[in-house]
Amino acid sequence: METGSQIEPISWIEIDLGAIRHNYRELKKYAAPNVEVFGVIKADAYGHGAVKTARVLVEEGAKVLCVARAEEAAQLREAGICSRILVFGPPLSGQAVALLGLDCEMVVCAEDHVEAIVAAARVLKKVARVHVKIDVGMGRLGLPPSHALEFIRKITTFDCMKIAGVMSHLPCADTTDRELTSKQIATFASVRDTIKTAGIDVPCFHLANSAALLDFPEAHFDAVRPGISLYGQLPSFEVQARPNLIPAMSMKTRVIFVKDVPAGTGLSYGHTFVTRRPSRIATVPLGYADGYPRHASNKTQMAVRGTLVPQVGRVCMDLLLIDVTDVPDVAVGDEVLAFGRSGNTVLRPEVVAQQIGTIGYELTTRVGQRLQRVYL
Ligand SMILES: Cc1ncc(COP(=O)(O)O)c(C=O)c1O
Repeated sequence: METGSQIEPISWIEIDLGAIRHNYRELKKYAAPNVEVFGVIKADAYGHGAVKTARVLVEEGAKVLCVARAEEAAQLREAGICSRILVFGPPLSGQAVALLGLDCEMVVCAEDHVEAIVAAARVLKKVARVHVKIDVGMGRLGLPPSHALEFIRKITTFDCMKIAGVMSHLPCADTTDRELTSKQIATFASVRDTIKTAGIDVPCFHLANSAALLDFPEAHFDAVRPGISLYGQLPSFEVQARPNLIPAMSMKTRVIFVKDVPAGTGLSYGHTFVTRRPSRIATVPLGYADGYPRHASNKTQMAVRGTLVPQVGRVCMDLLLIDVTDVPDVAVGDEVLAFGRSGNTVLRPEVVAQQIGTIGYELTTRVGQRLQRVYL
């Protein structure tokens, strides 16, 4: 176990790197052996720690690590990660110099990006490896499919730039609208065919996020880019596959106070919860400043002594309440699981997130700085 401080934490995040290793292996089973499985570790590996996660994925054979921003790539390089890194966000000029200096691969989808990278490549006298992004329907970044060939042709005229990939991103692969996703995959396939027919050498076409990796084998092309599933969560409950994924993050705390109150007692700010029976209420030091959303107030469950209990009253900045009336002998010091795993109890983050009205992605990426990370 490794902690960031000498003080034993009373509320903490446990990260099971073994679970990430297991999940990567599990996901590889969904891709053909000739399909590379990249690792998406942006946003500090969805809150799990980018450097530690990167090391696990590299050991497991991930050839490319994907981040969203230049700063995230720099953090990996500073930690001595020397694998291929793809930065999803296209660079502005200052970033292009930095990223090329760090030997990172960049996404391009506009003339401005190309100009920034060409200028950087000339300054550093290096060849930049780029991934051309096509928009098959996400609407955030990417060239219209009809412009792809002309744009790629232009890139091939620069000696200082090499096309390492052509990519896109699917907006609805985790929904029940399979028809829309199938159309978008077909659009990407036709862009690939056009590029191949033109005789342009592109070593890697990649499209699939976790949902497409799991549910759309025809979206795999040369490489897939899972993120959320590496951390043990389903991208959504509409995904049809049910892989054996282990949640890698657990949010834990301890009971610091227990009291018995009569029926009719209002609890926490605004008295949004009033006891309907004589109740035993436990207070735990976890709040929205730790990343347990205020929106969760009166909606979620936590586990104590292996039993699920309701969270009651408003979630405060540092504290929240659980109703432990039905669990005998709950005492100060007992461990409380907000999500993740404790012994045989599993509270999947995506299930807790759904109760709150958000997604597991948000729950793990928004964990507060104050919570110590304990790596298993
Ligand atoms: C371009 C791109 N590829 C892949 C992923 C991974 O998606 P997921 O976490 O749903 O697997 C993301 C994440 O949003 C992304 O932005």
